[in-house]
Amino acid sequence: MRRISDYSAQMEKAVRDITLPGGVLSTLYEPISYALASGGKRLRPSLLLMAADSFGDSASKAFSAAAGIEVFHNFTLLHDDVMDNSSTRRGRQSVFAKWGVNSAILSGDTMLTLATQLICEVEDSLLRGVLDTFNSMAIRVYEGQRLDMDFETSEDVTLDDYIRMIMDKTGSLIGAACKIGALIGGASEKDAEKMYEYGMMLGVAFQIQDDWLDVFGDSTTFGKPIGGDINNNKKSYLVLKGKEVGGPDSVALAEAMKLPSGETKVKVVTRIYEKMNLSAICRQEIASYSAKAISALKSTSLSDEDKEAFRNVVEKLTGRKK
Ligand code: IPE
Ligand code: IPE
Ligand code: MG
Ligand code: MG
Ligand code: MG
Repeated sequence: MRRISDYSAQMEKAVRDITLPGGVLSTLYEPISYALASGGKRLRPSLLLMAADSFGDSASKAFSAAAGIEVFHNFTLLHDDVMDNSSTRRGRQSVFAKWGVNSAILSGDTMLTLATQLICEVEDSLLRGVLDTFNSMAIRVYEGQRLDMDFETSEDVTLDDYIRMIMDKTGSLIGAACKIGALIGGASEKDAEKMYEYGMMLGVAFQIQDDWLDVFGDSTTFGKPIGGDINNNKKSYLVLKGKEVGGPDSVALAEAMKLPSGETKVKVVTRIYEKMNLSAICRQEIASYSAKAISALKSTSLSDEDKEAFRNVVEKLTGRKK
């Protein structure tokens, strides 16, 4: 049985082996090496490799594209930490905190181009399909990030708006990773689309879990500070659901969200979330999107064993702590 952990171990090495163009201009390249060497789950490239192997025993042909997907993901994190004013990532200083906003922007831009170069190393017959998928995904991520920022100052965001936003910012990348892997493995267009849907639904479940961890996680394990979403007035799943339920707790939550940023706000809001039992509601929503991901696998031509391997990824991520 294929296991995602085997692929992430291979990816960890492959990412560290990426050759950077320069070396001389350390102010540009050092933040890139720093970001790429800081670990992370390597989820997206591992899914890409597993999809390539499952459809065509093709992981060895997929390493550059997988590395490209991980470099792209890390590029989005460099810029995201500027936008979210986050000083900690993967348990250490973010690039933004360590080197400042100019470094996060420019080293991030360089990573985007490096990612595209790595994607373009795919064999010629696959290039058009893979590059189209990659570029459409990238635009969707930017749209999602724009919505995420716009929502900070909007008070009429609905749960439907939220789902659309996280499909864009998070689902599209995980979906594209699965689809590109499938394409490299020689999957049919229909199978590749189903794998995109699998990754998209997995991504939605993944982002709701990320929102939950931002409140209830352990900052050491999670590697990110707790309460950032509350302090940034993010329209997370928790706050939107909490306001939607109605009644006195919803009113109290809306009031608490108006408090100035700081420890007190995080404490007060967290207490209301607890009172409203939002952890259980999050778990249900995560389970519902996980089921959608698993259901997308059913109509693919994957073997039962490979379907199970992808199902195991969903189950593993459902209970993740980091
Ligand atoms: C962080 O992604 C960004 C989100 C979509 C929540 P990951 O949680 O996959 O980050 P790393 O790569 O493992 O650090
Ligand atoms: C991440 O959303 C989505 C990206 C495209 C980077 P978050 O802002 O919640 O990610 P973290 O929590 O900082 O990793
Ligand atoms: Mg963000
Ligand atoms: Mg962030
Ligand atoms: Mg987050």
